[in-house]
Amino acid sequence: MQKKVDFLIIGSGIAGLTFALKVAEFGKVCIITKTKVDETNTRYAQGGIAAVTSFPDSFEKHISDTLSCGDGYCNPEVVKMVVNEAPKLIQELIEWGTNFDKKPDGLYDLAKEGGHTEHRILHHKDNTGFEIQRALIEKAKKHSNIEILDFHYAVDIITQHHLGYTVIRHQTEVECYGAYVLNMKNNVIETVLAKTIFIATGGIGNIYQHTTNPSIATGDGIAMVYRAKGIVENMEFVQFHPTALYNQGERPAFLITEALRGFGAILRTSDGKEFMHKYDKRGSLAPRDIVARAIDTEMKIRGDEFVYLDATHLNEKELISHFPNIYNKCQSLDIEITKNFIPVAPAAHYLCGGIKINLNGKTSIHQLYAGGECASSGLHGANRLASNSLSEAVVFAHRASQECISIFKNIPFKENIPNWNDEGTTLPEELILITQEFRELQQIMTYYVGIVRSNLRLNRAFNRLELLYKETEELYQRSTISDKLCELRNAINIAYLIIKMAKRRRESRGLHYTIDYPTKLKI
Ligand code: FAD
Ligand code: SIN
Repeated sequence: MQKKVDFLIIGSGIAGLTFALKVAEFGKVCIITKTKVDETNTRYAQGGIAAVTSFPDSFEKHISDTLSCGDGYCNPEVVKMVVNEAPKLIQELIEWGTNFDKKPDGLYDLAKEGGHTEHRILHHKDNTGFEIQRALIEKAKKHSNIEILDFHYAVDIITQHHLGYTVIRHQTEVECYGAYVLNMKNNVIETVLAKTIFIATGGIGNIYQHTTNPSIATGDGIAMVYRAKGIVENMEFVQFHPTALYNQGERPAFLITEALRGFGAILRTSDGKEFMHKYDKRGSLAPRDIVARAIDTEMKIRGDEFVYLDATHLNEKELISHFPNIYNKCQSLDIEITKNFIPVAPAAHYLCGGIKINLNGKTSIHQLYAGGECASSGLHGANRLASNSLSEAVVFAHRASQECISIFKNIPFKENIPNWNDEGTTLPEELILITQEFRELQQIMTYYVGIVRSNLRLNRAFNRLELLYKETEELYQRSTISDKLCELRNAINIAYLIIKMAKRRRESRGLHYTIDYPTKLKI
């Protein structure tokens, strides 16, 4: 079965939906999403969306905080652009129906998180992402030009490789014509042809054992682009959130937003002592890489599996009204946050690198654009400033949409694209093989490619991954496609890229910390 649309979007989080709402005024849009339309990283965002909205904040301060957090690795041009353009695009989210909390005087109630020198984070209680996702879905569902296909899994983007061109001389010669998509409702692989394609497939957290990300975050888009010979960069910069709720076995790990530390909560070791001042003068509100590493160190010194976050000294009424979801979640586990410390530990949270894009969201592949967490725009450098990712997503979705609107009419649909060929494949004999390989992958990444790295650990990870890679490729070649098998294959691909790029970096910078090269190189 073949389908033709002007704009194909893979992913229904903030990036995909924002892009969709803009291009839908000009042509036919198809959004595909691999599970329910609202099961995205976006939906779980707690703290909020960062932007300069009022004095005494300024663009200069937001730029400086972003650059400082990125540890010398941000692209200053991109930082300036995103900081300048974010307020206008957030205003658009508000016009589209998103509610952000206000104070009694009618001004926005701005929160503060690690690495920010000002209160500048717009939020909706402690479930900002849920509110943004709700508003965007409601608007997208009403648009007659937008078709949303849930439980549709993008297997691969279609390029010249599928037309039998085996030799492409340079990465920049690849063109994208659409995607092969598994309709998970009937197990048929459909061909979706498009004039422009926007990849917004989100993060990679699930390659680790402990993550704040929902199970959709397996790096599919990045792996698809890498397989198509597109440029992928900065994969070694994986951000661990310092404070996920310690509740063994819970996936995804429930986040305790950094905004709670911005509100005054303090990190303590298991014997109740404050420790962050030993690591950074900003204490519990230092940038995430520093806080996560400090917690990791304290846990290792003491043999503990968590540290505590103490909110017991804060105003009870305000605490509950600002953080109702955290309050309720902790209460469901018999933790009364107004009286008890909250056990927390770091968890894989965000990927700073990904598919390389330019200022207009274009990838190295023609007709292919990317935005949101799967993209590497240059904004975050070696460590993302908290709440900058939602702002980045709207800015790049907007910019990419404007370029796609200006070019799509001149792009013909590609002819003679073959349908997916699964001749000779059969159902995998035991699905447990896939589940087990995924678990092994998560163990490898957690034990050897975590917050603190070394050459020895990275080499071990690489060798063990090779076996998983071979076994999975062999299974993939002979098996009928399933979402779980593709996810495993993609996740292995992502792990490979992280390890490869981490091995190449002979310094410690931002989120990449290695005991073999503890200092930074000059750039
Ligand atoms: P997502 O929202 O993750 O959407 C990805 C979409 O791609 C999904 O619809 C998924 O189904 C689809 N998809 C993936 N693969 C395929 C495939 N093969 N086929 C079809 N569809 C596919 N950032 C902030 O700025 N502020 C915060 O306060 C904040 N809090 C966070 C809290 C948590 C717990 C988490 C997990 C993240 C948080 N982040 C925060 C990060 C931020 O939420 C994400 O970076 C952002 O939402 C990513 O949006 P996205 O549109 O790129 O991807
Ligand atoms: C949080 O609320 O702590 C998460 C914010 C982010 O990841 O940007």
